[in-house]
Amino acid sequence: MPSEGPGREVSEPEARALYIRKCSLCHGDDGDLGASKSPMLSTSTLSLEERVALITYGKGTMPAQKGILNKAEITAVARYIERFRN
Ligand code: HEC
Repeated sequence: MPSEGPGREVSEPEARALYIRKCSLCHGDDGDLGASKSPMLSTSTLSLEERVALITYGKGTMPAQKGILNKAEITAVARYIERFRN
């Protein structure tokens, strides 16, 4: 796998840990909690690129992760949440 810019590669357990720490509050451990009016991740159709942008810059009440997570971490989390899709 090519490396994603600065920073080392992020393993799947690390991606899960980041998800639990930064995203579960609203989206739940399995993507479908729907707290704070967040959409179900199981029915999301956003592309990887769109998810990376959304996670980086945030939207509405969803907090931006720019400056909190690095690019490799954001990409890893964006990939990780694909498992929640139906
Ligand atoms: C404070 C609550 C909150 C947190 C924390 C949060 N989100 Fe969200 N998320 C939202 C809300 C609200 C939306 C809907 C944004 C909108 O469209 O206005 C959203 C939308 C999304 C979407 C788009 C789904 C779709 O197809 O429309 C994805 C993907 C997503 N979040 C992933 C994440 C990830 C990954 C994290 C952790 C890095 C995260 N969210 C953290 C509240 C949150």
